[in-house]
Amino acid sequence: MSAEPSAELGSDLFGPVRLGPITLRNRVIKAATYENAARRGEVTDRLVDFHVRHARGGVGMTTVAYCAVAPEGRTDGHQIVWRDEARSGLIRLTEAVHAEGAAISAQIGHSGPVGDPRATKMKALSPTPYFNPQAFTRTKQASRQDLARIVAQHGAAATMAVETGFDAVEVHIGHNYLASSFLSPKLNKRTDEYGGSLENRARVARDCLRAVRDAVGDRIAIIAKMNMTDGVPGGLWLDESLQVATWIEQDGSVDALEMTEGSSLLNPMYLFRGEAPIAEFAKAVGEPVGTAVRLVGKRFLREYPYEDLYLLENARQVRAAVRLPMILLGGVTSAQGVRTAVEHGFEFVAMGRALLREPDLVARMVAGSEGRSLCIHCNRCMATIYGGTRCVLVAPADG
Ligand SMILES: Cc1cc2nc3c(=O)[nH]c(=O)nc-3n(C[C@H](O)[C@H](O)[C@H](O)COP(=O)(O)O)c2cc1C
Ligand code: SF4
Repeated sequence: MSAEPSAELGSDLFGPVRLGPITLRNRVIKAATYENAARRGEVTDRLVDFHVRHARGGVGMTTVAYCAVAPEGRTDGHQIVWRDEARSGLIRLTEAVHAEGAAISAQIGHSGPVGDPRATKMKALSPTPYFNPQAFTRTKQASRQDLARIVAQHGAAATMAVETGFDAVEVHIGHNYLASSFLSPKLNKRTDEYGGSLENRARVARDCLRAVRDAVGDRIAIIAKMNMTDGVPGGLWLDESLQVATWIEQDGSVDALEMTEGSSLLNPMYLFRGEAPIAEFAKAVGEPVGTAVRLVGKRFLREYPYEDLYLLENARQVRAAVRLPMILLGGVTSAQGVRTAVEHGFEFVAMGRALLREPDLVARMVAGSEGRSLCIHCNRCMATIYGGTRCVLVAPADG
């Protein structure tokens, strides 16, 4: 497989690019950064303002972060679930973003063992029972009925995304959320058709993606955000994720792959690299978890050196294995980063922290700026997801 840009790409770094059935005004996608801005599962003005700010800042598409397909699949009690009460707010949100000329995607999924039973008052589900030290509880093994329901709920969520005006859905099959926990040999010890062989462990992820495709056809674009490695011994690693990526391509269930790494459950800093904000986290999560974070934080929030484009080397392995359009994520901070991504055959980039720090960075890149983002990768924004996500270097009114 060639590492050349696809023929559709065109020569203009920031010109329009096709993504399945839609066309984005440019190739930069705002990565999902959980906003904590919904209340009682409904859209608020703050959530609308957050995405309008990014749309106005020039991105091709903004991503509404994690919205759960089922109530027990939430990571936070206020999180949006794809239910009727969210419908009118979601329409308001998509219309506001479209008015700024950007497209809007919704991240959908089931949090599985990452779910927060204290917030949802429901047992978190996992492939096999697991004691979650963050939640101080044991997860419940997902039954075949649970899995059939959750697969169908992915389809229903995607249908509602079409009905409420979204241009794309991003199905979360990474970070050891439910589908990703099934992929992990460390978390999945089942002996039925959902465990053991890679084909069995990939069943939930592939079924969820196929349910989404069956539900929406080509009315909107479908992206899979997928782990290349879990970043933990015994977890999913590249040899297996490459195979899963090729199966997903053969299934015809997605229009693009966005590769990520790490585990929100077992190794969160692997997603981000850079500094571990232990003190901020301990304060944000409250007691008794805060004390545990202070005591074992260094072990749980292990640090990894940050460098720009830190996922590029592994993502290139996937790029070489599939023809699907791909989104490069992880440390994209400048026009040069976008150029490098394109030179390696990635059609899109996704940017998280750089745009939290400077929501108008893309507009400046489009206008010719070669400047690098002001984000210093301190990762203190991670701890703000418990209050209202923002860059701590930006005054709350602007951030
Ligand atoms: C505050 C914050 C919240 C995040 N929330 C989500 C989320 O809800 N879903 C998700 O898949 N990734 C989430 N991420 C990870 C980002 O999407 C992205 O994978 C990561 O930040 C690496 O990209 P970057 O180097 O451009 O920041 C979050 C990141 C940050 C900083
Ligand atoms: S808090 Fe701001 S500077 Fe620090 S990593 Fe987050 S976006 Fe970057």
